[in-house]
Amino acid sequence: MGTLLDCRRLLITSLVLAFFVSLTTPTVEAKIRLYNWEVNYKYMSPDCYQKLGIAINGKSPGPTILAQAGDTIIVNLTNGLGTENIAVHWHGIRQIGSPWSDGTEGVTQCPIVAGDTFQYKFVVDRPGTYLYHAHYGMQRETGLYGSIRVLVKDGEVEPFSYDEDRSIILNDWWHKSTYEQATGLSSIPFQWVNEPDSLLIQGRGRFNCSLMTPSSPGAGICNMTNPECYPYHLTVVAGRTYRLRIGSLTSLSALNFEIEGHNMTVVEADGNYVEPFVVKNLNIYSGETYSVLVKADQDPSRNYWAVSHVISRLPQTPPGLAIFNYYPNHPRKSPPTPPPTGPLWNDTQNRFDQSLKIKAHHNYIYTPPRTSDKQIILLNTQNRIDGITRWSLNNVSHTLPHTPYLIAVKENLKNVFDQNPPPETYDYKNFDIYATPNNSNATYGNGIYRLEFNSTVDIILQNANMISANSSETHPWHLHGHDFWVLGYGIGKFDPEKDPKNYNLVDPIMKNTVPVHKYGWTALRFIANNPGAWAFHCHIESHFFMGMGVVFAEGVEKIGKLPDSIMGCGETRG
Ligand code: C2O
Ligand code: CU
Repeated sequence: MGTLLDCRRLLITSLVLAFFVSLTTPTVEAKIRLYNWEVNYKYMSPDCYQKLGIAINGKSPGPTILAQAGDTIIVNLTNGLGTENIAVHWHGIRQIGSPWSDGTEGVTQCPIVAGDTFQYKFVVDRPGTYLYHAHYGMQRETGLYGSIRVLVKDGEVEPFSYDEDRSIILNDWWHKSTYEQATGLSSIPFQWVNEPDSLLIQGRGRFNCSLMTPSSPGAGICNMTNPECYPYHLTVVAGRTYRLRIGSLTSLSALNFEIEGHNMTVVEADGNYVEPFVVKNLNIYSGETYSVLVKADQDPSRNYWAVSHVISRLPQTPPGLAIFNYYPNHPRKSPPTPPPTGPLWNDTQNRFDQSLKIKAHHNYIYTPPRTSDKQIILLNTQNRIDGITRWSLNNVSHTLPHTPYLIAVKENLKNVFDQNPPPETYDYKNFDIYATPNNSNATYGNGIYRLEFNSTVDIILQNANMISANSSETHPWHLHGHDFWVLGYGIGKFDPEKDPKNYNLVDPIMKNTVPVHKYGWTALRFIANNPGAWAFHCHIESHFFMGMGVVFAEGVEKIGKLPDSIMGCGETRG
């Protein structure tokens, strides 16, 4: 009962702390961190090609939220877009006690309409590396994203040490607008988003402008000498150890990240301490965060490449490049060697092996309950519904209702979504995961899974073949409102009789995002102890847009009055 115990422990610790604070020094008191953000359209050239994007206070990535565990974050978010709604999600923050601040349009709030200011207010209850990003349509792709770094409380220590703390976000980037992409995905014939034009490291990439012909759109505004697309540089001093917090917010790509000539020790994943292990390069999926320790222990007279590569899909995008810059070399001086080529894109075993290596740190093991109260098996397939290409779970392709679930469940609005829950399993005895699926009976659906409060829930994600023959792809699944234990991974079809016997109940890592490998399965367990309505979805932007998600609701009756600020759409118009 890790999480529950954790909360109780937290409560007791804070009571004890409060007592001592009143006697001694006020420095451990939780702080309020106030941010005023204005979101606006902006021409940006992160990869040298100018595009209309969305920025926060003029910046993309947006400002980093910096806090200490226990602090309250207040973000007053003004929608300055004029022609578009927004919502911003705090990825990895569980929103304990503030389910209306999760920022998920259609699930926890109405969209923030043009001109409005919405206040997000939540507690960052534990240290770790988190992210924030738009959660409305496919808006995340426009550049509305950033980092959240939560440090330990004063006087607390982490199970590793370092000299400097840095954050970077890895991303993929398209020149086509997100609106065109979304339209293409819902058109007949289907128009796929295609591979990204560039990979970005901390908002910077490099598109080869000479590939543009004078007639291609924007050919005149691709400028490789624009300082906006100078490669990101990470300046280091020889002998020092760096904690590098790496987050991925790609819209499509699975990535491999490597720093030329330097090993990385993985110490944190999605806000949880990892039993340390050393890698030459790191596979990272959209929605995941890792902290790695890097020692600047190579020849300091030169610079080195930091590089991201597309993996799991046939790469058609040049690698993302940043410079690992040894002080006092010039930060833009290119390293004398070619960038590392990374692992083979189609080495599924390499990725599977890394997944298995990620275990809880031996001093931070939260033991999962030995059994679960409910098991939901979700078959991931691609199919067509009325000619539209969609993703489905157990043959249901999810659509968001116009009235957010949190409000509909709390206020018992029965006409907002289908009151029948979606199926909890599929015909696994007869289904061939290696064949092109025949989901002729697939449908749209907006029903949700209502979980009994405090019950233990197992989710098994089963991957399969897509609509085209001999293809299956990696899906990074992300859960809002919770961390889950990662109990196991497998390749092939999950066997509900046999496979649970091999679950790791000893030292499983807790995470909020996890890959489901090609033709494989992943088993998760969590306790439904956080009152609210929570999205669980593939973090690939186009896949979620195409229906690859479900929603859980638990303990909603325990929530007090919902704030008026989340209302205003659908049936909530007062
Ligand atoms: Cu980072 Cu629902 O997503
Ligand atoms: Cu997916």
